Amino acid sequence: MTATRLPSNSPGSVATVAEPAIDPLLVVRELVSLRRLVGLYPADHPLIGEKLRELDAAVRRQLDEQPELQVDIVRGDVHVDGEPFRQESRAHAHLIAELTELGVQSVCIRHGVSADELRATAEFLWRYDGKPGGESVQERLQREGVRHVSLGRIVPLDTRWASRKWPDAPDGALDPAYEEALGMAQEAFHRVSSGGDLDAGAVRDTVQLLIQRVAGSHVALGHVLAVKHYENLTWCHSVNVAMLSLLIGRQVRLDPESIVSLVEAALLHDIGKTRVPLEVVQKPGALDRSERKLIEAHATYGGEILAGTGGLRPLTATVALEHHRWMTGGGYPDLGAGVLPHPMSQIVSVADVYEALTGARSYKPPTPPERACVILARIAGEQLNAALVKAFIGTITFFPIGSFVRTSRDEVGVVVRTSSEDPLRPVIMLLRDDGEAVMEEVDLAGPGGEHRHIVESVPAPEGAPSLGDIL
Ligand SMILES: [Fe+2]
Ligand SMILES: [Fe+2]
Repeated sequence: MTATRLPSNSPGSVATVAEPAIDPLLVVRELVSLRRLVGLYPADHPLIGEKLRELDAAVRRQLDEQPELQVDIVRGDVHVDGEPFRQESRAHAHLIAELTELGVQSVCIRHGVSADELRATAEFLWRYDGKPGGESVQERLQREGVRHVSLGRIVPLDTRWASRKWPDAPDGALDPAYEEALGMAQEAFHRVSSGGDLDAGAVRDTVQLLIQRVAGSHVALGHVLAVKHYENLTWCHSVNVAMLSLLIGRQVRLDPESIVSLVEAALLHDIGKTRVPLEVVQKPGALDRSERKLIEAHATYGGEILAGTGGLRPLTATVALEHHRWMTGGGYPDLGAGVLPHPMSQIVSVADVYEALTGARSYKPPTPPERACVILARIAGEQLNAALVKAFIGTITFFPIGSFVRTSRDEVGVVVRTSSEDPLRPVIMLLRDDGEAVMEEVDLAGPGGEHRHIVESVPAPEGAPSLGDIL
Protein backbone atom coordinates (compact mmCIF):
# COMPACT_ATOMS: atom_id res chain seq x y z
CA MET A 1 0.00 0.00 0.00
CA THR A 2 2.82 2.41 0.84
CA ALA A 3 4.41 1.90 -2.54
CA THR A 4 1.31 3.16 -4.31
CA ARG A 5 1.48 6.54 -2.59
CA LEU A 6 3.64 8.19 -5.23
CA PRO A 7 3.32 11.80 -6.26
CA SER A 8 1.70 11.95 -9.69
CA ASN A 9 4.80 13.36 -11.35
CA SER A 10 7.18 10.77 -9.95
CA PRO A 11 8.94 8.53 -12.43
CA GLY A 12 7.50 5.41 -10.79
CA SER A 13 3.93 6.59 -11.11
CA VAL A 14 1.99 4.75 -13.78
CA ALA A 15 -1.64 4.67 -14.82
CA THR A 16 -2.22 1.37 -13.05
CA VAL A 17 -1.63 2.93 -9.63
CA ALA A 18 -5.12 2.80 -8.23
CA GLU A 19 -4.79 5.00 -5.19
CA PRO A 20 -4.78 8.79 -5.44
CA ALA A 21 -1.53 10.44 -4.42
CA ILE A 22 -2.53 11.90 -1.05
CA ASP A 23 0.22 13.17 1.20
CA PRO A 24 -0.39 10.95 4.23
CA LEU A 25 0.85 13.54 6.71
CA LEU A 26 -0.93 16.50 5.13
CA VAL A 27 -3.70 16.77 7.73
CA VAL A 28 -1.22 16.67 10.63
CA ARG A 29 0.97 19.28 8.99
CA GLU A 30 -1.90 21.62 8.19
CA LEU A 31 -3.31 21.27 11.71
CA VAL A 32 0.06 22.08 13.31
CA SER A 33 0.51 25.09 10.98
CA LEU A 34 -2.99 26.36 11.74
CA ARG A 35 -2.27 25.99 15.47
CA ARG A 36 0.72 28.29 15.09
CA LEU A 37 -1.15 30.83 12.98
CA VAL A 38 -4.10 31.15 15.38
CA GLY A 39 -1.61 31.62 18.21
CA LEU A 40 0.50 34.24 16.48
CA TYR A 41 -1.90 36.32 14.37
CA PRO A 42 -5.10 38.23 15.11
CA ALA A 43 -8.26 36.19 14.61
CA ASP A 44 -9.25 37.88 11.33
CA HIS A 45 -5.85 37.61 9.63
CA PRO A 46 -6.19 36.30 6.04
CA LEU A 47 -3.43 33.70 6.57
CA ILE A 48 -5.63 31.95 9.12
CA GLY A 49 -8.57 31.77 6.72
CA GLU A 50 -6.33 30.45 3.96
CA LYS A 51 -4.74 27.74 6.14
CA LEU A 52 -8.14 26.74 7.52
CA ARG A 53 -9.46 26.23 3.98
CA GLU A 54 -6.44 24.06 3.16
CA LEU A 55 -6.88 21.95 6.28
CA ASP A 56 -10.62 21.63 5.71
CA ALA A 57 -10.05 20.51 2.10
CA ALA A 58 -7.42 17.95 3.19
CA VAL A 59 -9.74 16.55 5.85
CA ARG A 60 -12.68 16.37 3.44
CA ARG A 61 -10.60 14.49 0.84
CA GLN A 62 -9.65 11.90 3.46
CA LEU A 63 -13.18 11.58 4.86
CA ASP A 64 -14.76 11.23 1.44
CA GLU A 65 -14.31 7.49 1.56
CA GLN A 66 -14.07 6.65 5.22
CA PRO A 67 -16.04 7.53 8.36
CA GLU A 68 -13.02 8.71 10.35
CA LEU A 69 -9.36 9.58 10.06
CA GLN A 70 -7.14 8.20 12.80
CA VAL A 71 -3.62 9.59 13.22
CA ASP A 72 -1.37 8.11 15.92
CA ILE A 73 2.18 9.10 16.66
CA VAL A 74 3.93 6.03 17.97
CA ARG A 75 7.56 6.58 19.00
CA GLY A 76 7.91 9.54 16.65
CA ASP A 77 6.40 7.81 13.61
CA VAL A 78 3.02 8.86 12.27
CA HIS A 79 0.52 6.05 11.69
CA VAL A 80 -2.44 7.02 9.53
CA ASP A 81 -5.35 4.63 10.03
CA GLY A 82 -2.92 2.13 11.49
CA GLU A 83 -0.40 2.32 8.67
CA PRO A 84 3.07 3.65 9.58
CA PHE A 85 4.76 6.38 7.51
CA ARG A 86 8.29 6.35 8.83
CA GLN A 87 10.13 8.24 6.12
CA GLU A 88 7.57 11.00 5.91
CA SER A 89 7.58 11.23 9.70
CA ARG A 90 11.34 11.73 9.77
CA ALA A 91 11.08 14.50 7.18
CA HIS A 92 8.54 16.34 9.34
CA ALA A 93 9.92 15.40 12.77
CA HIS A 94 9.89 19.00 14.03
CA LEU A 95 6.17 19.40 13.25
CA ILE A 96 5.29 16.08 14.83
CA ALA A 97 7.29 17.01 17.92
CA GLU A 98 5.05 20.08 18.38
CA LEU A 99 2.12 17.77 19.01
CA THR A 100 3.89 15.11 21.03
CA GLU A 101 5.55 17.69 23.29
CA LEU A 102 2.04 18.74 24.30
CA GLY A 103 1.30 15.11 25.13
CA VAL A 104 -0.96 14.73 22.09
CA GLN A 105 -0.10 11.52 20.26
CA SER A 106 -3.44 10.58 18.84
CA VAL A 107 -5.88 12.62 16.73
CA CYS A 108 -9.19 11.27 15.44
CA ILE A 109 -11.31 13.36 13.06
CA ARG A 110 -14.77 12.03 12.26
CA HIS A 111 -17.18 12.49 9.37
CA GLY A 112 -19.33 15.59 9.85
CA VAL A 113 -16.52 17.79 11.19
CA SER A 114 -16.94 21.48 10.33
CA ALA A 115 -14.30 24.09 9.54
CA ASP A 116 -15.26 25.88 12.77
CA GLU A 117 -14.49 22.74 14.75
CA LEU A 118 -11.09 22.44 13.07
CA ARG A 119 -10.32 26.04 13.93
CA ALA A 120 -11.46 25.57 17.54
CA THR A 121 -9.24 22.46 17.76
CA ALA A 122 -6.22 24.46 16.56
CA GLU A 123 -7.00 27.23 19.07
CA PHE A 124 -7.37 24.68 21.85
CA LEU A 125 -4.00 23.14 20.92
CA TRP A 126 -2.36 26.57 21.09
CA ARG A 127 -3.65 27.16 24.63
CA TYR A 128 -3.19 23.58 25.82
CA ASP A 129 -0.06 23.08 27.94
CA GLY A 130 -0.31 19.31 28.33
CA LYS A 131 -0.68 19.59 32.08
CA PRO A 132 -3.50 17.56 33.61
CA GLY A 133 -6.29 19.90 34.74
CA GLY A 134 -9.67 19.33 36.37
CA GLU A 135 -11.53 18.69 33.13
CA SER A 136 -10.52 16.10 30.57
CA VAL A 137 -9.30 17.20 27.14
CA GLN A 138 -12.48 15.79 25.61
CA GLU A 139 -14.71 17.75 27.98
CA ARG A 140 -12.81 20.95 27.21
CA LEU A 141 -13.12 20.36 23.45
CA GLN A 142 -16.85 19.69 23.79
CA ARG A 143 -17.23 22.98 25.64
CA GLU A 144 -15.63 24.70 22.63
CA GLY A 145 -18.22 23.07 20.37
CA VAL A 146 -15.82 20.41 19.01
CA ARG A 147 -17.76 17.16 18.65
CA HIS A 148 -16.03 15.43 15.75
CA VAL A 149 -12.39 15.60 16.86
CA SER A 150 -10.72 13.64 19.68
CA LEU A 151 -7.22 14.23 20.99
CA GLY A 152 -5.41 11.84 23.27
CA ARG A 153 -2.30 10.23 24.54
CA ILE A 154 -1.21 6.98 23.02
CA VAL A 155 -0.86 5.07 26.30
CA PRO A 156 -4.48 3.93 26.60
CA LEU A 157 -4.55 3.04 22.91
CA ASP A 158 -1.31 1.08 23.25
CA THR A 159 -2.84 -0.78 26.14
CA ARG A 160 -5.79 -1.79 24.07
CA TRP A 161 -3.91 -2.61 20.93
CA ALA A 162 -0.53 -3.80 21.99
CA SER A 163 -0.66 -4.87 25.62
CA ARG A 164 1.65 -7.82 25.98
CA LYS A 165 3.26 -9.86 28.67
CA TRP A 166 7.03 -9.61 28.92
CA PRO A 167 9.13 -11.98 31.01
CA ASP A 168 9.52 -10.83 34.63
CA ALA A 169 13.32 -10.75 34.54
CA PRO A 170 16.12 -11.08 32.01
CA ASP A 171 16.56 -14.64 30.82
CA GLY A 172 19.25 -16.56 29.00
CA ALA A 173 22.86 -16.73 30.16
CA LEU A 174 23.44 -13.89 32.63
CA ASP A 175 26.65 -12.77 34.23
CA PRO A 176 26.74 -14.82 37.49
CA ALA A 177 27.44 -11.83 39.77
CA TYR A 178 24.61 -9.83 38.16
CA GLU A 179 22.26 -12.78 38.58
CA GLU A 180 23.26 -13.09 42.23
CA ALA A 181 22.64 -9.36 42.80
CA LEU A 182 19.19 -9.64 41.18
CA GLY A 183 18.35 -12.53 43.52
CA MET A 184 19.49 -10.59 46.60
CA ALA A 185 17.48 -7.50 45.59
CA GLN A 186 14.39 -9.60 44.92
CA GLU A 187 14.64 -11.15 48.36
CA ALA A 188 15.11 -7.78 50.11
CA PHE A 189 12.14 -6.21 48.29
CA HIS A 190 9.97 -9.25 48.88
CA ARG A 191 10.74 -9.19 52.59
CA VAL A 192 9.72 -5.54 52.92
CA SER A 193 6.55 -5.95 50.88
CA SER A 194 5.47 -8.85 53.06
CA GLY A 195 5.74 -6.66 56.15
CA GLY A 196 9.31 -7.52 57.25
CA ASP A 197 12.15 -5.12 57.98
CA LEU A 198 14.81 -4.17 55.51
CA ASP A 199 18.00 -6.10 56.30
CA ALA A 200 20.75 -3.45 56.27
CA GLY A 201 23.46 -6.17 56.33
CA ALA A 202 22.06 -7.79 53.19
CA VAL A 203 21.89 -4.34 51.56
CA ARG A 204 25.58 -3.75 52.33
CA ASP A 205 26.48 -7.15 50.84
CA THR A 206 24.53 -6.39 47.66
CA VAL A 207 26.22 -2.99 47.34
CA GLN A 208 29.66 -4.60 47.68
CA LEU A 209 28.75 -7.28 45.13
CA LEU A 210 27.68 -4.57 42.67
CA ILE A 211 30.81 -2.48 43.13
CA GLN A 212 33.38 -5.27 43.40
CA ARG A 213 32.12 -7.74 40.81
CA VAL A 214 29.17 -6.64 38.73
CA ALA A 215 30.74 -3.30 37.74
CA GLY A 216 33.80 -5.15 36.43
CA SER A 217 31.81 -7.35 34.05
CA HIS A 218 31.19 -6.19 30.49
CA VAL A 219 28.49 -8.80 30.14
CA ALA A 220 26.60 -7.46 33.16
CA LEU A 221 26.93 -3.89 31.89
CA GLY A 222 25.61 -5.05 28.53
CA HIS A 223 22.53 -6.46 30.27
CA VAL A 224 22.03 -3.25 32.24
CA LEU A 225 22.58 -0.80 29.39
CA ALA A 226 21.00 -2.27 26.30
CA VAL A 227 17.29 -2.60 25.55
CA LYS A 228 15.60 -4.76 28.17
CA HIS A 229 13.07 -7.17 26.78
CA TYR A 230 11.55 -7.92 30.15
CA GLU A 231 9.16 -6.14 32.47
CA ASN A 232 11.36 -3.98 34.66
CA LEU A 233 9.88 -4.91 38.00
CA THR A 234 11.04 -2.84 40.94
CA TRP A 235 13.83 -5.08 42.23
CA CYS A 236 15.33 -5.58 38.75
CA HIS A 237 14.97 -1.88 37.94
CA SER A 238 16.66 -1.03 41.25
CA VAL A 239 19.75 -3.16 40.57
CA ASN A 240 20.02 -1.59 37.12
CA VAL A 241 19.60 1.96 38.46
CA ALA A 242 22.30 1.23 41.05
CA MET A 243 24.70 0.13 38.29
CA LEU A 244 23.92 3.12 36.08
CA SER A 245 24.33 5.50 39.02
CA LEU A 246 27.70 3.92 39.72
CA LEU A 247 28.79 4.60 36.12
CA ILE A 248 27.81 8.27 36.48
CA GLY A 249 29.46 8.52 39.91
CA ARG A 250 32.74 7.20 38.50
CA GLN A 251 32.52 9.47 35.48
CA VAL A 252 32.18 12.55 37.72
CA ARG A 253 35.01 11.18 39.89
CA LEU A 254 33.22 10.62 43.18
CA ASP A 255 35.53 9.19 45.84
CA PRO A 256 35.10 5.50 46.77
CA GLU A 257 33.17 6.25 49.99
CA SER A 258 30.66 8.43 48.13
CA ILE A 259 30.30 5.71 45.50
CA VAL A 260 29.25 3.26 48.22
CA SER A 261 26.66 5.76 49.49
CA LEU A 262 25.43 6.39 45.96
CA VAL A 263 25.01 2.72 45.08
CA GLU A 264 23.17 2.01 48.34
CA ALA A 265 20.80 4.95 47.78
CA ALA A 266 20.17 4.00 44.14
CA LEU A 267 19.50 0.37 45.06
CA LEU A 268 16.82 1.47 47.53
CA HIS A 269 15.40 4.55 45.76
CA ASP A 270 12.10 2.84 44.91
CA ILE A 271 11.69 0.78 48.10
CA GLY A 272 8.55 2.86 48.81
CA LYS A 273 6.83 1.01 45.95
CA THR A 274 6.56 -1.97 48.29
CA ARG A 275 3.79 0.01 50.04
CA VAL A 276 1.87 0.69 46.81
CA PRO A 277 -0.54 -2.09 45.73
CA LEU A 278 1.14 -4.21 43.06
CA GLU A 279 -1.84 -3.91 40.71
CA VAL A 280 -1.26 -0.13 40.64
CA VAL A 281 2.55 -0.44 40.19
CA GLN A 282 2.04 -2.88 37.33
CA LYS A 283 -1.17 -1.46 35.87
CA PRO A 284 -0.91 -1.58 32.10
CA GLY A 285 -1.79 1.85 30.81
CA ALA A 286 -2.92 5.19 32.11
CA LEU A 287 -3.51 5.71 35.82
CA ASP A 288 -6.45 7.65 37.17
CA ARG A 289 -5.86 10.49 39.56
CA SER A 290 -6.06 8.51 42.81
CA GLU A 291 -3.80 5.79 41.41
CA ARG A 292 -1.30 8.44 40.32
CA LYS A 293 -1.34 9.92 43.83
CA LEU A 294 -0.66 6.46 45.25
CA ILE A 295 2.27 5.89 42.91
CA GLU A 296 3.69 9.32 43.66
CA ALA A 297 3.52 8.56 47.37
CA HIS A 298 6.26 5.93 46.87
CA ALA A 299 8.91 8.64 47.22
CA THR A 300 7.64 9.72 50.64
CA TYR A 301 7.04 6.13 51.74
CA GLY A 302 10.60 5.29 50.68
CA GLY A 303 12.00 8.17 52.73
CA GLU A 304 10.02 6.96 55.76
CA ILE A 305 11.02 3.31 55.45
CA LEU A 306 14.70 4.15 55.03
CA ALA A 307 14.82 6.81 57.76
CA GLY A 308 13.40 4.18 60.10
CA THR A 309 15.93 1.47 59.17
CA GLY A 310 19.11 1.34 61.28
CA GLY A 311 22.52 0.76 59.71
CA LEU A 312 21.97 2.65 56.43
CA ARG A 313 23.92 5.64 55.18
CA PRO A 314 22.48 9.09 55.94
CA LEU A 315 21.74 10.09 52.33
CA THR A 316 19.84 6.94 51.41
CA ALA A 317 16.49 8.20 52.74
CA THR A 318 17.05 11.64 51.18
CA VAL A 319 17.57 10.18 47.71
CA ALA A 320 14.43 8.05 47.95
CA LEU A 321 12.44 11.15 48.93
CA GLU A 322 13.91 13.36 46.21
CA HIS A 323 14.49 11.18 43.15
CA HIS A 324 11.38 12.46 41.32
CA ARG A 325 12.12 16.13 42.07
CA TRP A 326 13.21 18.30 39.15
CA MET A 327 16.08 20.75 38.83
CA THR A 328 13.57 23.56 38.31
CA GLY A 329 11.51 22.74 41.38
CA GLY A 330 8.81 20.61 39.70
CA GLY A 331 8.20 16.91 40.18
CA TYR A 332 7.06 15.32 43.43
CA PRO A 333 6.71 15.36 46.37
CA ASP A 334 6.28 19.10 46.94
CA LEU A 335 9.19 20.02 49.20
CA GLY A 336 8.76 23.79 48.87
CA ALA A 337 9.91 26.27 46.25
CA GLY A 338 13.64 26.57 45.60
CA VAL A 339 14.56 23.23 47.18
CA LEU A 340 17.07 21.63 44.86
CA PRO A 341 17.55 17.86 45.02
CA HIS A 342 20.83 16.72 46.60
CA PRO A 343 23.54 15.95 43.97
CA MET A 344 23.25 12.24 44.84
CA SER A 345 19.51 12.41 44.10
CA GLN A 346 20.28 14.18 40.82
CA ILE A 347 22.56 11.31 39.75
CA VAL A 348 19.96 8.68 40.64
CA SER A 349 17.29 10.63 38.71
CA VAL A 350 19.31 10.47 35.48
CA ALA A 351 19.91 6.72 35.90
CA ASP A 352 16.26 6.17 36.87
CA VAL A 353 14.81 7.88 33.78
CA TYR A 354 17.16 6.03 31.40
CA GLU A 355 16.43 2.67 33.01
CA ALA A 356 12.69 3.19 32.93
CA LEU A 357 12.78 4.24 29.27
CA THR A 358 14.89 1.31 28.10
CA GLY A 359 12.82 -1.22 30.04
CA ALA A 360 9.65 -2.86 28.72
CA ARG A 361 6.23 -2.44 30.31
CA SER A 362 3.03 -4.25 29.49
CA TYR A 363 1.80 -1.06 27.76
CA LYS A 364 5.02 -0.11 25.99
CA PRO A 365 7.95 -1.76 24.29
CA PRO A 366 11.41 -0.68 25.46
CA THR A 367 12.87 2.52 23.99
CA PRO A 368 16.17 1.86 22.18
CA PRO A 369 19.22 3.40 23.92
CA GLU A 370 19.92 5.98 21.21
CA ARG A 371 16.38 7.36 21.49
CA ALA A 372 16.51 7.23 25.29
CA CYS A 373 19.66 9.40 25.13
CA VAL A 374 17.87 11.94 22.93
CA ILE A 375 14.97 12.06 25.41
CA LEU A 376 17.40 12.57 28.32
CA ALA A 377 19.03 15.43 26.41
CA ARG A 378 15.62 16.99 25.83
CA ILE A 379 14.68 17.04 29.51
CA ALA A 380 18.17 18.03 30.68
CA GLY A 381 18.25 21.40 32.39
CA GLU A 382 14.63 21.30 33.46
CA GLN A 383 13.94 17.88 34.90
CA LEU A 384 17.49 16.54 35.07
CA ASN A 385 20.92 18.06 35.75
CA ALA A 386 22.33 18.86 32.29
CA ALA A 387 25.98 18.26 33.25
CA LEU A 388 25.12 14.84 34.68
CA VAL A 389 23.14 13.89 31.56
CA LYS A 390 26.16 14.87 29.47
CA ALA A 391 28.48 12.82 31.68
CA PHE A 392 26.12 9.84 31.46
CA ILE A 393 25.72 9.89 27.68
CA GLY A 394 29.49 10.40 27.36
CA THR A 395 30.04 7.21 29.38
CA ILE A 396 27.46 4.90 27.90
CA THR A 397 27.36 6.41 24.34
CA PHE A 398 24.36 6.20 22.01
CA PHE A 399 24.94 2.54 21.19
CA PRO A 400 26.09 1.08 24.51
CA ILE A 401 28.12 -2.04 24.94
CA GLY A 402 25.98 -5.14 24.38
CA SER A 403 23.52 -3.40 22.01
CA PHE A 404 22.50 -5.20 18.84
CA VAL A 405 22.68 -2.75 15.94
CA ARG A 406 21.89 -2.65 12.23
CA THR A 407 24.41 -1.04 9.90
CA SER A 408 23.84 0.94 6.70
CA ARG A 409 24.84 -2.25 4.84
CA ASP A 410 21.97 -4.06 6.52
CA GLU A 411 24.29 -6.19 8.66
CA VAL A 412 23.54 -6.93 12.30
CA GLY A 413 26.27 -6.64 14.90
CA VAL A 414 26.84 -6.36 18.63
CA VAL A 415 28.64 -3.40 20.19
CA VAL A 416 31.73 -4.77 21.92
CA ARG A 417 33.63 -1.55 22.72
CA THR A 418 32.60 2.09 22.87
CA SER A 419 34.49 5.37 22.84
CA SER A 420 33.42 8.57 24.58
CA GLU A 421 35.33 10.45 21.85
CA ASP A 422 33.06 9.07 19.16
CA PRO A 423 29.78 7.97 20.75
CA LEU A 424 28.16 7.08 17.41
CA ARG A 425 30.98 4.87 16.09
CA PRO A 426 31.77 1.98 18.42
CA VAL A 427 33.57 -1.28 17.65
CA ILE A 428 31.05 -3.93 16.64
CA MET A 429 31.16 -7.68 16.12
CA LEU A 430 29.25 -8.60 12.99
CA LEU A 431 26.89 -11.57 13.19
CA ARG A 432 26.44 -14.16 10.45
CA ASP A 433 23.29 -13.75 8.34
CA ASP A 434 21.43 -16.40 10.34
CA GLY A 435 22.45 -14.51 13.50
CA GLU A 436 23.94 -17.63 15.04
CA ALA A 437 27.65 -16.92 15.06
CA VAL A 438 30.01 -13.99 15.09
CA MET A 439 32.00 -13.14 11.96
CA GLU A 440 34.42 -10.26 12.32
CA GLU A 441 35.14 -7.25 14.46
CA VAL A 442 34.78 -3.85 12.79
CA ASP A 443 35.92 -0.55 14.26
CA LEU A 444 33.41 1.95 12.87
CA ALA A 445 35.76 4.81 13.76
CA GLY A 446 38.63 3.06 11.94
CA PRO A 447 39.32 1.88 8.38
CA GLY A 448 36.51 -0.74 8.48
CA GLY A 449 33.99 1.96 9.29
CA GLU A 450 34.50 4.05 6.20
CA HIS A 451 31.75 2.33 4.29
CA ARG A 452 29.19 1.74 6.96
CA HIS A 453 27.54 3.45 9.89
CA ILE A 454 24.97 2.36 12.45
CA VAL A 455 21.38 2.98 11.42
CA GLU A 456 19.58 1.91 14.61
CA SER A 457 19.66 -0.54 17.46
CA VAL A 458 17.54 -3.66 17.03
CA PRO A 459 16.31 -6.51 19.24
CA ALA A 460 18.66 -9.50 19.49
CA PRO A 461 18.04 -11.73 16.45
CA GLU A 462 16.48 -15.16 17.01
CA GLY A 463 19.18 -17.62 18.10
CA ALA A 464 21.84 -14.92 18.55
CA PRO A 465 24.82 -15.89 20.74
CA SER A 466 24.57 -14.68 24.35
CA LEU A 467 26.46 -11.58 25.43
CA GLY A 468 28.65 -13.85 27.54
CA ASP A 469 29.88 -15.58 24.39
CA ILE A 470 30.57 -12.33 22.57
CA LEU A 471 31.92 -9.85 25.11
FE1 LIG B 1 10.64 6.16 41.69
FE1 LIG C 1 12.84 4.22 39.85
